[in-house]
Amino acid sequence: MADAVNTNSDARPDSDSGSGSGSGSGCASDSDPDRVLVLDFGSQYTQLIARRIREQRVYSEIWPCTKTLAEISAFRPRAIVLSGGPSSVHDEGSPSIDPGIFELGVPILGICYGLQLMCHLLGGRVTRSPAHEYGRAEIQHVAEESILSGFDANESLSVWMSHGDLVEKIPPSFEVLGRSKNCPYAIVMERARKIYGLQFHPEVVHTHRGRDILANFLFRIAKVHANWTMGSFIEREVAEVRDRVGQDSVICGLSGGVDSSVVTALLHRALGDQLIPVFVNNGLLREGEAEQVQSLFRDRLGVNLRYVDATDEFLRALDGVVDPEQKRKTIGRVFVEVFERAAKEAGPNAKWLAQGTLYPDVIESVSFKGPSATIKSHHNVGGLPERMHLKLIEPLRELFKDEVRILGRELGLPDDVVNRQPFPGPGLAVRVLGPITRDKLEVLRGADRIVFEEIEAAGLYDAIWQSFAVLLPVHSVGVMGDARTYEQVAAIRAVTSVDGMTADWAPIPHDVLARMSNRIINEVRGINRVVYDISSKPPATIEWE
Ligand code: XMP
Repeated sequence: MADAVNTNSDARPDSDSGSGSGSGSGCASDSDPDRVLVLDFGSQYTQLIARRIREQRVYSEIWPCTKTLAEISAFRPRAIVLSGGPSSVHDEGSPSIDPGIFELGVPILGICYGLQLMCHLLGGRVTRSPAHEYGRAEIQHVAEESILSGFDANESLSVWMSHGDLVEKIPPSFEVLGRSKNCPYAIVMERARKIYGLQFHPEVVHTHRGRDILANFLFRIAKVHANWTMGSFIEREVAEVRDRVGQDSVICGLSGGVDSSVVTALLHRALGDQLIPVFVNNGLLREGEAEQVQSLFRDRLGVNLRYVDATDEFLRALDGVVDPEQKRKTIGRVFVEVFERAAKEAGPNAKWLAQGTLYPDVIESVSFKGPSATIKSHHNVGGLPERMHLKLIEPLRELFKDEVRILGRELGLPDDVVNRQPFPGPGLAVRVLGPITRDKLEVLRGADRIVFEEIEAAGLYDAIWQSFAVLLPVHSVGVMGDARTYEQVAAIRAVTSVDGMTADWAPIPHDVLARMSNRIINEVRGINRVVYDISSKPPATIEWE
C-alpha cells in the first residue's frame, strides 16, 4: 500500500509489547494512559458514556458487569463508571457487582441503574416508582461540590431522565447534591470514598452540560490525566490485532465506503501482507462504483485488491425475496460464502474475516439482555450467518462514524474517502423495496446518480449525512406528452445526523429538489413521480428497509 496507508511490517513490536489493554482482559502497565472502566449493566447508552470519556481524551474500556473484583482491580482503573440498565434491582437475577468495588479506593460514578444499585448495596432503599420518568427534567442544585464545579448555585440543570425505579432513601453515609420535582436524589455523593450517583444521563446530548459533569468527575474528583488520542487507539488496536492474528492471514471485505476503507488501512498497518483485501461486486452497487473503488485503491493507494464479481450469485439468492430482514440475511450469507471461497484460495492461513462494523450497527443488530431490540441486522454486510468458518475481526465496533472519520484522517486516507457519505453493506437491495430485479436496480441507479450529482452541484454533499434515491414498489398514473403513463415512484431521502443513531430529514432547497425531480422523471425511463421523504429517525430509520 502506498503513502496513505503506509506500513512497515518489519517494524512491528513483539506481540506482548503493545498497550496491553485488550478489550476486557488487560492488566495495566505503568506506561499505559490513565484508564477509566465503564461497567455495563445493559443500557443502550453505555457506549455513549465511553465515547464522552474519549472525547475528554481519556482512555476508557467497557466491560460487562459480570467481571470479577480481581479482574477489575488488575485493570487498575483511575475511575469506574457504573452504567444504566433496563433492570430493576428488585428483579430476580438482576445484574449486580461485588460490593468490594467500593473498597478499591477508586472514585465511582453510578448512572441511573448504577446509582440505584450502589444505593441498594450500600444500605439505601430503591422503590418501583409509580410513574416512570422519561424525558427532560429540571434539577435544583442544592449543594456546592466539585462534581458541580462551574455551575451556579442557583442554576437549575436541564437533564434527560429515563427510569422506572427511584432511590427512596440514600445510604446513611451519602449526601444529596441535587433534586428534581419527581426525584429527591438526582445527584448524590459519599465524600469519604468518592462515590457519586446521578439519576439522569449525563452522556446524552439532551442533558445540557452533561459533559461538564463528567469532566468534573474525571478531572476534579478522580484526577485523571487527559493523555489519550486517536494515535493511541491505533497503537492499541495494531498491537491487539497482531496478538490475536499471529501468523494467520485476514480477509478484509473492502466496499470503498468509509468504514471498510479505514479498517483496511488500520489492518494493513498492523499486518502488512498478511491482509488480503477483497472487493466483492454484489450487483447491488451504485453506478460506476465498482470501477471507482478499484481505481482508487489500486491506483491511488497501491492496495493489492482482489476483485470478485459475484453479481449473479447475489441476485440469484435474492430472487423473489421481499422481507427486509430476509434480504439482509441472504446478503450476509452470500458474502460469507464468497469470503470463505476467497479464504480457501488464499491458503490455510486465511482464518479471519475483518469488517468495518461500527457501534450503531452493533447496538441496532443485537438484542442482548438490555432494551436494545433488534432493529435491523446490520453487521456491515447484512446479517452474518451463525455458522461461519472464519473468525471475525471488527476493530471499529466501539466507534461512531465521526470517530472513524477522525481515525481515517489519522491513518492518512484522503479526504474524498474519509468524507464519503455512508452506504449500507446490503447496498441497493435495501433501496429497491420489495422484490429485486436487474431492471429495477438499473432504474434506481439512474435516479441515484442524479440525486448525487445535484447534491454535489449544490455544494451540499459534505453537509448532509446521506442523500440517495429509493425505488418504491408502487406504480402511479402520469401523463407524458399526450400519453398516459403507469410507472414507478422514486423517493429522495436526505438526512442530517451526527452518528446515524438519530437523524433529521434535510431541508434541501426547493430549487434543488425541483431539479432532481425534473431530471429523474425526464432522464430515467420507468419513473414518472418523485416524492421527498420528510421523516426523522426515530421513529423512521434512515434506510427504508
Ligand atoms: P438505519 O437505516 O438503520 O441506518 O437508520 C443507519 C445507518 O447505517 C447504515 N446501514 C448499514 N450499514 N450495513 C452497514 O454497513 C447495514 O446492513 C446497514 N443498514 C443500514 C445506513 O445507511 C445509515 O447510515
